[in-house]
Amino acid sequence: MTLQIIDGKALANQIKEELKLEVEHWVENGGKRPHLAAVLVGDDPASQAYVRNKVKSCEQVGFQSTLLKYEADMAEDDLLDIVKGLNENPEIDGYIVQLPLPKHIDENKILLAIDYRKDVDGFHPVNFGRMAQGLDSYLPATPMGILTMLDRYNIETSGKDVVVLGRSNIVGTPISILLSRKAKVGNATVTLTHSRTSDLEGHLKRADIIVAAIGIPLFVKKEMVKQGAVIIDVGINRVTSPDTKSGYKLVGDVDYDHVAPNCSHITPVPGGVGPMTVVSLLQNTMKAAKETIYNKP
Ligand code: GUN
Repeated sequence: MTLQIIDGKALANQIKEELKLEVEHWVENGGKRPHLAAVLVGDDPASQAYVRNKVKSCEQVGFQSTLLKYEADMAEDDLLDIVKGLNENPEIDGYIVQLPLPKHIDENKILLAIDYRKDVDGFHPVNFGRMAQGLDSYLPATPMGILTMLDRYNIETSGKDVVVLGRSNIVGTPISILLSRKAKVGNATVTLTHSRTSDLEGHLKRADIIVAAIGIPLFVKKEMVKQGAVIIDVGINRVTSPDTKSGYKLVGDVDYDHVAPNCSHITPVPGGVGPMTVVSLLQNTMKAAKETIYNKP
């Protein structure tokens, strides 16, 4: 079997072109130009880079975007007021609050305050619950991007053994729900593994598809992966490197160089899941502008 590298960057660009046409068509016919807002609190370099990317991607597809930046020491109540303002602002179709938030701010409290009809990140319990029940909802961007990749690359999931590494609310838990749902990309038998899993290697070795989302650089090694497996690497880890000018490089949760030769498909880092996350957010925002799932507040 030959190895196929899943080119998330190319696929994301293709979907952006499709979205651009959809926006033009929508606006020509009198629709409101989609408008995404992003809230960034603090100066975490990774979060800044992600948010910049989201704003740039909005421009590429013809969306309006608004970036709201605040100091790391802002009060929780002030952030709640910002959220309330965005909920009530008819100009804004959807918005995100970039995570993680500073420690003195209760993330769950903020996420609950977001109007679920504008929650294009799919983090609000209404969207999460609807997702779990198989109802239409905003899907969280990274899991949604993974489903799109599997779909567009015609990777069969039905009846397959999937092992998900990591149980976060943003990736591990939702992707395990989505892949086990009765759906076109779904019908898999999913094992959700985490720090208390015994015989993790045994689980991984039996997997047809591995979704690695634990945030440990190069955690998945060659000997943990079955010949011909599909590898989806969600990790974006910054490690020091003597080979680059900046002195660091990005690596995934998978030891790509040694694992890839044994796989049928693998996502690279960077250029795999990352660009698909951004494009999923844009797709959700398009749906918000069109009121595909919910009517506007
Ligand atoms: N932090 C890491 N991933 C995400 C994401 O998809 N959305 C937001 N808002 N914050 C994140």
